[in-house]
Amino acid sequence: MDRNILVTGGTGFIGSHTVVELLEIGDNVIIVDNLSNSNPSVLEKIEMITGRKPIFYHCDVTDRKALTNVFASHEIHTVIHFAGLKAVAESVAEPLKYYHNNVVGSIILMQVMEQFHVHNLIFSSSATVYGGNNIMPLTEASPTGPVNPYGMTKLAVENICRDLCSSDQNWHIALLRYFNPVGAHVSGLIGEDPLGIPNNLFPIITQVAIGKRDKLFVYGNDYPTQDGTGVRDYIHVVDLALGHIKTLPFVEENPGVHIFNLGTGKGYSVMDVIKAFERVNDLTVPHVISSRRAGDVAECYSNPDKANRILRWNANLGLEDMCRDGWRFQKQITNHKA
Ligand code: NAD
Ligand code: UFG
Repeated sequence: MDRNILVTGGTGFIGSHTVVELLEIGDNVIIVDNLSNSNPSVLEKIEMITGRKPIFYHCDVTDRKALTNVFASHEIHTVIHFAGLKAVAESVAEPLKYYHNNVVGSIILMQVMEQFHVHNLIFSSSATVYGGNNIMPLTEASPTGPVNPYGMTKLAVENICRDLCSSDQNWHIALLRYFNPVGAHVSGLIGEDPLGIPNNLFPIITQVAIGKRDKLFVYGNDYPTQDGTGVRDYIHVVDLALGHIKTLPFVEENPGVHIFNLGTGKGYSVMDVIKAFERVNDLTVPHVISSRRAGDVAECYSNPDKANRILRWNANLGLEDMCRDGWRFQKQITNHKA
């Protein structure tokens, strides 16, 4: 396509997979990342997969001067804004850090975009913006009401985008509410490799399976779900990346602010995931039932009809692909570190 796409957070989990898909369709990619939660070796992996190299700036989105320099050096067509902090518990402990990084960072980015007359933006929002008492499946019209500072930062940026679009018809913004991204690129070269103790189910499963952790704690089996364990809408990260590719022409053509759920529409329980992972990869994942985790809801899954219809995007990969690809990546990084 030969557009210049600026990807903030492009060396991170979802960002790196999106960069691969952008390069594969011929776009030029300029990454801005402060490497607070990613490794620059991802850049080589991206080149190994695509045969192409993104331009990389080791830069923080809150650094107005550095960001201005990036925009002055490239004629940017669209910004995809992944850069953000995402650990829920940390956001409860350090709210100022989260509001500064996620909200102030987004404001500075939009101010610099405005300065350079760049008005196409795709923002990484989250299913976490929905309130806890919603009827499933969630549509884009379901009430919002985040229950932690991380979710509040996402909703704050959504509201800022809405106000910005009301004030100035030049802006074209898509707010993508991701459900639970998991899995890895089929090459096994890029995936999710969290620093420290992972917060999320999938990286914990792969680390238990490889022997890095003894066992998995299943947080509650007394929820009002089919088997009592929590139900989520897991989406393969490559499907999610492709959702951004489908959003690009939509954003270009449509002024104003537009919200889309990116999920599969299917809910799987913790036990469904453990069993699928064991079956697909022919191994066992030692696990014990423990008490509920504070702040968890019983069920969270999407109605993705709007994205299916308007963006002509569908999630094609299933739970088995997520389990197989996530495990291939875990084995690859473990061999590499050994
Ligand atoms: P990630 O941590 O792997 O990637 C985020 C990247 O942004 C990292 O490379 C990090 O170094 C970078 N970054 C953070 N703050 C920055 C800053 N101030 N300046 C420059 N770079 C910065 O996370 P991810 O899972 O790829 O998530 C990407 C986005 O999607 C985030 O905004 C996250 O909140 C959102 N999201 C993620 C999930 C999920 O479960 N993974 C779900 C919903 C929404
Ligand atoms: N779970 C366990 N044991 C674990 C980890 C998780 O049983 O060790 C369970 C949870 O209780 C939940 C399910 O697995 O029922 C999924 O938990 P995750 O932590 O993987 O995902 P969440 O749905 O809690 O949250 C994630 C991100 C949020 C994001 C949300 C929706 O962490 O930032 O998905 O996109 F907002």
